[in-house]
Amino acid sequence: MEGLVMKTCEGPVNIAVIKYWGKRNDELILPMNDSLSVTLHVDHLRSRTTIACSPVFKEDEFWLNGKPFPINERMRTCIEEAKKHISEEKKELSKYKLRICSENNFATAAGLASSAAGFACLVYCLAQVYGIDEKVVDLTILARRGSGSACRSIYGGFVWWQKGTSDDGHDSKAVQVASEARWPELRAVILVVSHKQKDVSSKDGMKRSRETSQLLHFRSKQIVQQRIESMIKAINAKDFDAFAEITMKESNQFHAVALDTFPPCFYMNDVSRNVIDLVNKYNAYKVDMGSSTRYSAAYTFDAGPNACIYLQDKDLSEFLSIIVSSFPSIEKEYVRGLPVEVVSSSVDI
Ligand code: PMV
Repeated sequence: MEGLVMKTCEGPVNIAVIKYWGKRNDELILPMNDSLSVTLHVDHLRSRTTIACSPVFKEDEFWLNGKPFPINERMRTCIEEAKKHISEEKKELSKYKLRICSENNFATAAGLASSAAGFACLVYCLAQVYGIDEKVVDLTILARRGSGSACRSIYGGFVWWQKGTSDDGHDSKAVQVASEARWPELRAVILVVSHKQKDVSSKDGMKRSRETSQLLHFRSKQIVQQRIESMIKAINAKDFDAFAEITMKESNQFHAVALDTFPPCFYMNDVSRNVIDLVNKYNAYKVDMGSSTRYSAAYTFDAGPNACIYLQDKDLSEFLSIIVSSFPSIEKEYVRGLPVEVVSSSVDI
């Protein structure tokens, strides 16, 4: 097809260890507090997007996992913002319509950061199509306009989203704290408890929390910054005890905020709570067995029931065998390859 430009990109999922929850500006997606995450390997949990751009296309069109969807407002914002930075030699492409085709190889909108991978991938792919110079344009700022947490999926390793202080959001961006090579022994196990979409979206939940949860306001002013500093120290020192304790406390506090929201948001279910119990018991068992660290595994849950468990390579196979024997309904279907292990449930609970 004459004049056709086409690119395919992949975007990884990231799972926050310091949680983003609550916006100070809904339109620009400016968060109330900083957050920090670990980007997972792209092979197992990823979004793949192909963008084609041609003078013969009549409309912008979008398909997600093989089904057509209208282009939503946030996608539109990413496209329009990307067009502002189009390179000189690709200028004429800004007049052409786009066909965007995305697929996720994991549950969409079930608390597995599908929007983070999806929007990071969309923005990265737009940047390739439009010849955007990454040295000049911060793609994390563009990705943030799609979904806040997406800004952290632009980088691998350990990524810090700095909330910034400006009103226009030019300083609300993500930076890499360390590459994954800093801590090669760190592993993430994703435990798929349910493929169901969450009842309250992150967008609606955050708005409701900001309006009703005093705990959210306290946390974002008094707690998060200190935890960010401690977490960065823990990562640089590869201090699993400190990393694990902050991660679990953050997950607990985020879900406490969800409960403090009125009406409350319930993101975890009974299986999620059993996973927490199991991690606590596993940590106690390891101490009894003479482990030199207080923690051997750390759980964290986003806005859904699915668990992410961080642990170190030396404990991986033992922990996986415990998970499988404790949750018989969970398929023994690991996606092998590190650092992510996906354990998926055969039935939605
Ligand atoms: O970027 P959103 O709107 O999908 O929000 C993500 C919020 C959490 O996943 C719950 C926490 C986080 O920091 O990723």
